[in-house]
Amino acid sequence: MSTTLLDIADDRHADGRAPDLARRRRGGGASKAGSGRRAGRPQSAGGPAGVAQGTSHTPVLADELLELLDPQPGQTAIDCTFGDGGHARLLADRLGPRGTLVAIDRDPLAEERFAALAAETACSLRFIRAGYAEALEQLSDEGVRADMAYFDLGMSSMQVDTRTRGFSYSYDAPLDMRMDPTQALSARDVVSEWDERRLAQLLRDFGEERHAGAIARAIVRRRAQTPIATTLELVDTINSAIPAPARFGGGHPAKRSFQALRIAVNDELGQLDRALPLAWGVLREGGVLAGISFHSLEDRRVKRFLGARARGCICPPDLPVCACGREPEAALLSRRSITPSADEVARNPRASSARLRAARKLTDEQGAPA
Ligand SMILES: C[S@@+](CC[C@H](N)C(=O)[O-])C[C@H]1O[C@@H](n2cnc3c(N)ncnc32)[C@H](O)[C@@H]1O
Repeated sequence: MSTTLLDIADDRHADGRAPDLARRRRGGGASKAGSGRRAGRPQSAGGPAGVAQGTSHTPVLADELLELLDPQPGQTAIDCTFGDGGHARLLADRLGPRGTLVAIDRDPLAEERFAALAAETACSLRFIRAGYAEALEQLSDEGVRADMAYFDLGMSSMQVDTRTRGFSYSYDAPLDMRMDPTQALSARDVVSEWDERRLAQLLRDFGEERHAGAIARAIVRRRAQTPIATTLELVDTINSAIPAPARFGGGHPAKRSFQALRIAVNDELGQLDRALPLAWGVLREGGVLAGISFHSLEDRRVKRFLGARARGCICPPDLPVCACGREPEAALLSRRSITPSADEVARNPRASSARLRAARKLTDEQGAPA
């Protein structure tokens, strides 16, 4: 099965062991946390101002993540993508009053949600509003050591459902898509200023959009006449470039282009490439690094990063004895990526493309190449 951005296939060639968890997940099974305290909360309530007041992010693969991280009282955890704090809240309960949770997010809305969590939890909490790469660098400089760190990548329901932020192709809103509203580059800048070639490459590379060239051409043609300032103006432009039969079936025609734009605006892949080694570096021996991805560009990075650390000898197979002396510095905690159960997807369709991977740090020595 080939991997695509929007529908990730399991890797059938991953090395490492397949623990009970992975086997049980593929067989379905009840989800304690997923159906627990957060179930039943409103998914979206876009107010008149377009701000989704009642929106909460249902944490994806929450049971599975908790089982892999196995938080214990008094430990330290780093949530690199706090969002609505869904995962963080579950962890904080387990870490208890002697534990510490460091939360990172670049969205000020997440910081507001963090304040609500801080008021209701006994564990020691700290929030860093920054890109996770910068925040992890800061933690590393401070000498912070953690027992677990995790990423729940992509955007939160709060971001998608807050209409004014322009993440969604379903609402008309200014073309924005910045997770950090103070950053300079917005989706409108990309759509207005990038040349046709660069736009086509963006749509191809970050959206695997088959009609990338035609869409880029349509954008450049339209903006020469009138600015493309809103999400629905962009949707209209994309629709005009995609042949009618291709517009039906296979999801919303603008889905891939919006994903590509969001990835570029927020430098999502650059942040992840920088952050993974930093997160690994702050882990103590025995610590666990976990990543939940929603498309193959992210998942591939997490998989390769963890896989490289789990690799032992890299000598050519015809060498009679090992000359590299390399020992694995990680143990993969599942052989394949872990996916949500049918139950979870039915409860929360946004979980459908999620893939979880995790590894335990075996040694604190820096040995494996990236
Ligand atoms: C999928 S949501 C996390 C949801 C969270 N786990 C929960 O259960 O509520 C992803 C969050 O990560 C944040 N984020 C994405 N990329 C980031 C980055 N490079 N640095 C900091 N935060 C980032 C987004 O702003 C968003 O709030």
